[in-house]
Amino acid sequence: MEKRILGNSGIAVSPIAIGCWSFGGGAYWGEQSQKDVDAVVNMALDNQVNLFDCAEVYNDGDSELSLGKALKGRRDEAVIITKQVITPDQDDTIARFEASLKRLDTDFVDVMMIHWPTNDRALMERTLTRYQQLVDAGKVKAIGISNFGVKQMTMVKELGFTSCVNELHYNIASRAIEHEIIPMCQDHGMGVLTYVSLQQGVLTGKYQSFADIPPRQARYRHYDVCRSQGMHDHKGSGAEAELTALLSVLDGVAKEQNVTIMEVVLGWALRQQGITSAIVGCRNLEQLSDNLKGGSFVMDDATCDLLTKASQPIYEKLGTCADYLFPVDQCRVI
Ligand SMILES: NC(=O)c1ccc[n+]([C@@H]2O[C@H](COP(=O)([O-])OP(=O)(O)OC[C@H]3O[C@@H](n4cnc5c(N)ncnc54)[C@H](OP(=O)(O)O)[C@@H]3O)[C@@H](O)[C@H]2O)c1
Repeated sequence: MEKRILGNSGIAVSPIAIGCWSFGGGAYWGEQSQKDVDAVVNMALDNQVNLFDCAEVYNDGDSELSLGKALKGRRDEAVIITKQVITPDQDDTIARFEASLKRLDTDFVDVMMIHWPTNDRALMERTLTRYQQLVDAGKVKAIGISNFGVKQMTMVKELGFTSCVNELHYNIASRAIEHEIIPMCQDHGMGVLTYVSLQQGVLTGKYQSFADIPPRQARYRHYDVCRSQGMHDHKGSGAEAELTALLSVLDGVAKEQNVTIMEVVLGWALRQQGITSAIVGCRNLEQLSDNLKGGSFVMDDATCDLLTKASQPIYEKLGTCADYLFPVDQCRVI
């Protein structure tokens, strides 16, 4: 699989990246065996997929632990991202970073990322200063950010720091970042990594109806608020008719071209301006082999245009707020 360069970092990464949120198992994704994680990580590396997206909060550190075990003996082939949530009560950046290193069983992390922005300028400055110290010490290769909007990226720049990447919710049914975030990332020399690239399974076509989506995965503004069964309140009625129409077009294109919906969805995203790689959660070898094909699927211009057009109604309905979990007037990506 051909590599792409991650923003201004010089780090070469695969267009398909492995999302590690399920690794270690936990409340959100349920059980996840180490045997399957080992198999997924090794098969990914065997297929030149080298980017692994982890975070300190994923399963309370068990995701990092699980990735560290799976990479045993192959650390040098991998590019590891890990992230920290930063709040005034969680200001012990370096100690937490050292704990991540230990769990990952490594002595450096490729990209150290702020998981969600803070609008507290002093906290942002302190955190980025410490990340820069980790870069200077050779423990981190590059700094990254996630879920940062235009104002928040501007703050990073004003503080005098450089991030090589912004990691954001993006897929054919979630295009808000096209409006002004992707252009600004390009202006700042940042790559974009997409997460929830398959809309947590919905863009595989495996659910017969919206009622079948597990409530945790149905918390997004795409669905009527009732779908999350009280777990979350984005206060909206969703864009289910628009998503149904889009899924039908995706299915038609997949059948016509004799490929899977995943290939079409990932192939479309990887053709978009400014997108470096699509992070995908793969729970087993079967899902990985499906999703790998998305990294090499070459989509022609006419198909790409048709799909972009088919996704316009959902784009217009959900709008340009890149936070698909909260009500638009409480958007955290600003
Ligand atoms: N920076 C951030 O704030 C942020 C936020 C969210 C996620 N992320 C990152 O992005 C990664 C991916 O996002 P995500 O895991 O939320 O969503 P996703 O990649 O859109 O969906 C992953 C889930 O879809 C199902 N799936 C995947 N491939 C499939 C296939 N071929 N056939 C059928 N089902 C398939 C699996 O779940 P089931 O088998 O259980 O259905 C899998 O866990 C995460 O692991 C994490 O690294 C980052």
